[in-house]
Amino acid sequence: MRIANGLDEASSVHWHGMHLPARMDGGPHQMIDPGGTWTPRWSVDQPAATLWYHPHPHGATEQHVRKGLAGMFILDDERSTKLALPKRYGVDDLPVIVQDVRFDGAKLDGGRKIMQNVGFLGDRTMVNGTLHPYREVDDELIRLRLLNASTARTYAFGFPDDRAFSLIATDGGLLERPESMDRLQLSPGERAEIVVRMRAGERVMLRSFPQDNYGDSWQRRFGGGDDSFDVLELRAAEELRPSPGIPTALGELETPDGTDAVRGRHFDLKRSGINKRSMDMGRVDETVTRGTTEVWTVRNSNGMPHNFHVHDVQFRVLEVNGEAPSAALRGPKDTVFLPNGTTMKLALRFTGPADPDTPYMYHCHLLFHEDEGMMGQFVVVEKGQRAQAPSGTRGTPGHSGHKHG
Ligand code: C2O
Ligand code: CU
Ligand code: CU
Repeated sequence: MRIANGLDEASSVHWHGMHLPARMDGGPHQMIDPGGTWTPRWSVDQPAATLWYHPHPHGATEQHVRKGLAGMFILDDERSTKLALPKRYGVDDLPVIVQDVRFDGAKLDGGRKIMQNVGFLGDRTMVNGTLHPYREVDDELIRLRLLNASTARTYAFGFPDDRAFSLIATDGGLLERPESMDRLQLSPGERAEIVVRMRAGERVMLRSFPQDNYGDSWQRRFGGGDDSFDVLELRAAEELRPSPGIPTALGELETPDGTDAVRGRHFDLKRSGINKRSMDMGRVDETVTRGTTEVWTVRNSNGMPHNFHVHDVQFRVLEVNGEAPSAALRGPKDTVFLPNGTTMKLALRFTGPADPDTPYMYHCHLLFHEDEGMMGQFVVVEKGQRAQAPSGTRGTPGHSGHKHG
């Protein structure tokens, strides 16, 4: 990749969902100066998936992403190309990058209202950078690659007639089998691929609906949980090309099931920091051994919604509040939504390469929270190796080690 920074401030480009060496990750330790270039290289070695990329400058990620620096990154592989799924890009396989915005005249307005403790919430919705988006479609089955690229807003996607659709993939790729549902919740950073059946000549609106798990009435009202709005209109042709039915089996999951886990870790999510610590670019919070599987328990009892994203890996959700995960959480994940009162157990395998002095991040992907310090760093080392103090730390002056009450 060759990235040129044409901005007048430093930024970075992070490959969200990609399994790659820590130095190529594009996090806050790989800043690109204004006018500078960055040329990371790695071999793509992971299953087909819908990934994305966005800047990750510590303390300023929300502003950089909100202003539009984000894009989708689609991986194919042999298995995904052989399956009878809609896969003609832009025809029956559509990228759907969803962001909320607010305008002040012709300019984007990024102001956060005082009661919005989740961060910025826009009052309009864009898909692929377009307002009032619609798409003409000519096929019976349409695959939508949904990406929540918003900085704070969580969506509950569905259709006004409550038609069922098939979930075929989550963040890190295909499920074992399609799961039928009529609502799908995605918090910032999450992706999902769904297949929807169209009727000839119809117009159907993909919408976002109110979310009953969002929190108390305050959270629902001021945090966006009560909102409902149009996202993307699909306009079906008078005659549709017949699509083959989608396969009943999609393949095996590569994510670990946790039975070979060698250790557990706990992460307590608070707006003031994870495990009572605010992000510090110079501190390595966790050290994991290359090639091992771990079970991470992540808990939110902070009275507001959070989510949890881990760089470099795709993980499996083992449990949500002691129960087996719902259909939407059965595929490979790198980001999960944790409404207040949620505890999740995740199985993660770290397959390297080891780099004791370059950390990966884990954080809340509500970017306002991330910028405030809801982020930590982990390194992957060879057995017996110790983490070093992060090298090449440029950082953004004045943005590490904040204290929040
Ligand atoms: Cu999508 Cu650390 O980020
Ligand atoms: Cu990421
Ligand atoms: Cu958060």
